[in-house]
Amino acid sequence: MSADPVHVPDESLRADDPSGHDPVLIKEVLNAIFDRHDPPHIVVDCTLGRAGHSTAIAERLARNPERPAHTPRPTLVGLDCDPRNLQFARDRLAPFIDGPQAGSVDVRLFHANFAQLDEVLDELKLPYVDAILADLGVSTNQIFDSQYGMAFSIDGPLDMRLDPRSTLTADKVINTWAESDIANALYDLADERLSRRIARKVAEARRIAPISTTRRLAEIVRTCFPPRRGHERAIDPATRTFMALRILVNSENQNLAALLDIAPGRLAQDGRLAVISFHSAEDRQVKQAFRSRSSDALGQHDTTNFQTLTRKPIEPTPEEAARNPRARSAKLRVLRRLRHGAP
Ligand SMILES: C[S@@+](CC[C@H](N)C(=O)[O-])C[C@H]1O[C@@H](n2cnc3c(N)ncnc32)[C@H](O)[C@@H]1O
Repeated sequence: MSADPVHVPDESLRADDPSGHDPVLIKEVLNAIFDRHDPPHIVVDCTLGRAGHSTAIAERLARNPERPAHTPRPTLVGLDCDPRNLQFARDRLAPFIDGPQAGSVDVRLFHANFAQLDEVLDELKLPYVDAILADLGVSTNQIFDSQYGMAFSIDGPLDMRLDPRSTLTADKVINTWAESDIANALYDLADERLSRRIARKVAEARRIAPISTTRRLAEIVRTCFPPRRGHERAIDPATRTFMALRILVNSENQNLAALLDIAPGRLAQDGRLAVISFHSAEDRQVKQAFRSRSSDALGQHDTTNFQTLTRKPIEPTPEEAARNPRARSAKLRVLRRLRHGAP
């Protein structure tokens, strides 16, 4: 397995956007959702974050010129498992909720994990929707806010949870898990080649005192690596350890698997599922899930009703990559529910 280290704290990669996060591939996401014969009415953003994508989607839904007067208001459903980002998104979407554009779009926001998409849509009595977006991972503000404990360059509590309701923290993993389990997690989730050595050092260090801050863990991990030679790239040695812990603590792989299982069945005719991933293991998971649903892969056009719209993933233009270095590893894949056989 090879994992590209992305979404890692790097002091040079702060967001330009005042929201604290630059939304990626925004034009491409809007095309995936809106470029279709009948305009979409119900759109779900599974990862509201700082509402960069959602604000643009709400604006498009609000000014849909083709909607006949008697049709119901378009709906934007938004989810985030982080209540802090959810509150920020709610404030940013306020013009559509109780501000000047209220009434143009029905905005429904939930503190929920996208693995609970079925429950959210059932609660809203929405059996089918026209588009579902998931922009995976974490937002830039979450990395740089020390209270999340994600960054190895900023001291903070060793936490890493996006959802404060969940009980597993990075502190718990590092201070209570068996050395071999820590090593396996670092290797399996972030392809950390020195996983055994790092786990041994962690076990030795925690015998002296619990490892409870990001800085102390980063320092312990750095001692496992030989000094960097002058010409080598300056990726912090703690990068993969921190990435593995974040994926583990937030059950990222399991949540994505659940979403990929649920979301296609919630799409109405011509509905789109758009997923943006940021590292190779994530992209592979999306690609395989889409492929297993698609008629092209099965070669049996009539027995399935999905089509992958992106044979190759959509990546940022050189201009976007230059403007927003965090976007460089982004890959957008889109699945479409075919018209025939769909509700
Ligand atoms: C990359 S950011 C999304 C940024 C957003 N598209 C924007 O334009 O501002 C990912 C967001 O998804 C949230 N998130 C991550 N995993 C989640 C999950 N399983 N369920 C719900 N939200 C999740 C994170 O808390 C974060 O706010």
